[in-house]
Amino acid sequence: MKKGVTKKDDRKIKFDSVKGSKSLGESWEYAPAPESKDHVRLEKKYDLFIDGKFVSPSSGKYFDSINPATEGKLSEIAEANAKDVDKAVQAARNAYNGVWGKMAGKERAKYIYRIARIMQERARELAVIESMDGGKPIRESRDIDIPLAAARFFYYAGWADKIDYAVPGAKANSLGVAGQIIPWNFPLLMAAWKIAPALAAGNTVVLKPAETTSLTALKLAEIIREADLPPGVVNIITGAGATGAALVNHPDINKIAFTGSTDVGKIIQKAIAGTKKKYTLELGGKAANIIFEDAAIDQAVEGIINGIFFNQGHVCCAGSRLFVQESVAKTVIRKLKDRMETLIVGDPLDKNTDIGAINSKDQLEKIKKYIKIGVNEGGEMYQANCPIPSKGFFYRPTLFTNVSQSSRIVSEEIFGPVLAIQTFRTVEEVIEKANNIPYGLSGGVWTDKGSKIFKVTSQLRAGVIWANTYNKFDPTSPFGGYKESGVGREGGLHGLMPYLTIQN
Ligand code: NAI
Ligand code: MG
Repeated sequence: MKKGVTKKDDRKIKFDSVKGSKSLGESWEYAPAPESKDHVRLEKKYDLFIDGKFVSPSSGKYFDSINPATEGKLSEIAEANAKDVDKAVQAARNAYNGVWGKMAGKERAKYIYRIARIMQERARELAVIESMDGGKPIRESRDIDIPLAAARFFYYAGWADKIDYAVPGAKANSLGVAGQIIPWNFPLLMAAWKIAPALAAGNTVVLKPAETTSLTALKLAEIIREADLPPGVVNIITGAGATGAALVNHPDINKIAFTGSTDVGKIIQKAIAGTKKKYTLELGGKAANIIFEDAAIDQAVEGIINGIFFNQGHVCCAGSRLFVQESVAKTVIRKLKDRMETLIVGDPLDKNTDIGAINSKDQLEKIKKYIKIGVNEGGEMYQANCPIPSKGFFYRPTLFTNVSQSSRIVSEEIFGPVLAIQTFRTVEEVIEKANNIPYGLSGGVWTDKGSKIFKVTSQLRAGVIWANTYNKFDPTSPFGGYKESGVGREGGLHGLMPYLTIQN
């Protein structure tokens, strides 16, 4: 049993009560296997990265970044106000006019490759910091976030000297200065999604990370300095919503790229209406994961677990709505519950951990609020009985049955480890139900029949749909939503276009 874990006997008791799991018992106990953090160097205080230098905020204000798994303070982060934002935008403009906008693509590529390579060299450090600051399991930050972030830079470095071939017969020009605002669920990865295509296309950048997870973006600032990028090409300013709003409203920004909640996306859309600013918005989701009776059931169960519990459900494309065909519903739900019992919730730095810490206290409160709503609406709740640490923000994997299309936990984004399950009989019925929602970011389909995959994927109104797998990402593939899930695409050639103007 791990140190700091409460309810020592819960797991054993629950195992005995889970049908068919009696014999598992103690064999599921793992010895702690924490990743070392000895090699991680964090400053006591981080300043703003403007014009190639770390500078103190003009207000003199700093806020804490904490470790959500321990509630301990990791560092103090500078809060940028409108004056600092203006300084950063000016630095980006000067770098655009003076160097970056004029530089040959093959030269820009060298810098972008260099960023990717240094990220790879410092991958272990970045992974540990990502897990400490954001709460996600080290297995994910080590195997998914950091390698994919480096891959984004490698991929777009390859485009930098081929921009003319991206639009055959036309001339593509950069835009100028991009203002970029990112969320806390994939901090470094989202920074890479934003910065890499902007630089490849010849733009300069002011990026604002989310206030609970600024640290890897500030480490990226160090890497950018190490890669010797001309000062001002990338500026990283920290702060909360007000800092983001100052960036959105700055008159000298050519493009806003935002990932975050639909509510803030709408505020941004209103704020820039009538201006010449271009924008892309990657917003919320409520993905349908659809299991047909002819699916490989064990594989599908694994996919559902990954789809909703991956990264504590802090994923805009999380498979938070499960539709299971009636004839196999009982089996699937039983297998899901059994599998949930084996998930390990706890220390994000432990390599055995499946579900780490909820990113913030606010987010934990939001999840709890939705659980209450689900129960009050008549949903039948099942929670894994795993032990959870007594300190920090943790939540047990949870599923709801007996919910309907009108339940709030079915239609609203919870952004936590909470799965809502409904059944269906026909393909037509499930497509209608899956589409009957304001979001349309992603989805999943599990079946043995190629024809069914084709029918479902061509009729679901969602930007990304996985078949017989879930949550797979690749830098060459476009990503983005329909309806309230957003505007524009990131990734691949599609993701380059919002950073260019095309002259025919
Ligand atoms: P949020 O949308 O408020 O924050 C995302 C980013 O926008 C942060 O960097 C934040 O500082 C910034 N921001 C906040 N207000 C702003 C404004 N008025 N102008 C410009 N920038 C602003 O998301 P929050 O509050 O962290 O999470 C709330 C909910 O949003 C979550 O529960 C989840 O449902 C959803 N969400 C969705 C994400 C996605 O990837 N689609 C990512 C993060 C949150
Ligand atoms: Mg933090």
